[in-house]
Amino acid sequence: MTPPPPSPRRPYATPEPHPSGVRPPVLPDGLTPGHVAVLMDGNGRWAAQRGLPRSEGHRAGADVILEVLAGCLELGVRNLSLYAFSTENWKRSPDEVRFLMNFDPAVIRRRRDAMDALGVRIRWVGRMPAVWRTVVQELQVAEERTRDNDAMTLYFCVNYGGRAEMADAARAMAVEVAAGRLDPAEITEETVAAHLYHPDMPDVDLLLRPSGERRVSNYLLWQAGHAQLVFQDVLWPDFDRRHLWRACEEYAERVPRARRP
Ligand code: IPE
Ligand code: IPE
Ligand code: MG
Repeated sequence: MTPPPPSPRRPYATPEPHPSGVRPPVLPDGLTPGHVAVLMDGNGRWAAQRGLPRSEGHRAGADVILEVLAGCLELGVRNLSLYAFSTENWKRSPDEVRFLMNFDPAVIRRRRDAMDALGVRIRWVGRMPAVWRTVVQELQVAEERTRDNDAMTLYFCVNYGGRAEMADAARAMAVEVAAGRLDPAEITEETVAAHLYHPDMPDVDLLLRPSGERRVSNYLLWQAGHAQLVFQDVLWPDFDRRHLWRACEEYAERVPRARRP
């Protein structure tokens, strides 16, 4: 499940503790999820409750990212995926799409140094065509800058859709078949996995959705095939590391039951 953390390449910064002083729970050996995937949902409702525009909800939600990374580092979660913009989110109003497409790379840019200091490797997950050039550049700069960090990996999902990822994998395999490099009879689950956006991304152990919605919304459909699902009623801008830890405790309680023959 969770391998022991490798010795860091260089001394990394220690994450800021939670203001309440709360410490992470102690989970039984081998029951810390290695990969937690979170749908950052509920920003619009959070803003509406306060009579604010939706963009203010997105701003407040972005402030939670470092908090959750701190929670992962303190608990020992080595991989975190965050769903920032889905392939379906293009259907939102042009104003909101424009806001988010400018905002998501700015979020990464503003937090890049802090994440780098913590030893976080940033990787973009998503479909390249259609994403604005400026967004791609910003994400690629962050990837390049943090590529050797090994305290943990953040998979930042922008223009991501599970079905799109599988369609892209199918297309890539079809190209290889047409070129005579791949025998259709030999396509296995491993072949498909090798054509996903990041073939080395570990399977999702815990899929976490705040905001009270109980949907998967096309998130990491292949990688989360065996994930534990946890739904919480908190809206994303109100989320903090204690919610993450509670979900991980629930995961640690459930997994031994799932592993029973
Ligand atoms: C999540 O919050 C952020 C994105 C999907 C970009 P929403 O914008 O979906 O907020 P709600 O679900 O409408 O409250
Ligand atoms: C899922 O949230 C996508 C992200 C968190 C980026 P949405 O709010 O877009 O999903 P639906 O519309 O509830 O399925
Ligand atoms: Mg939503």
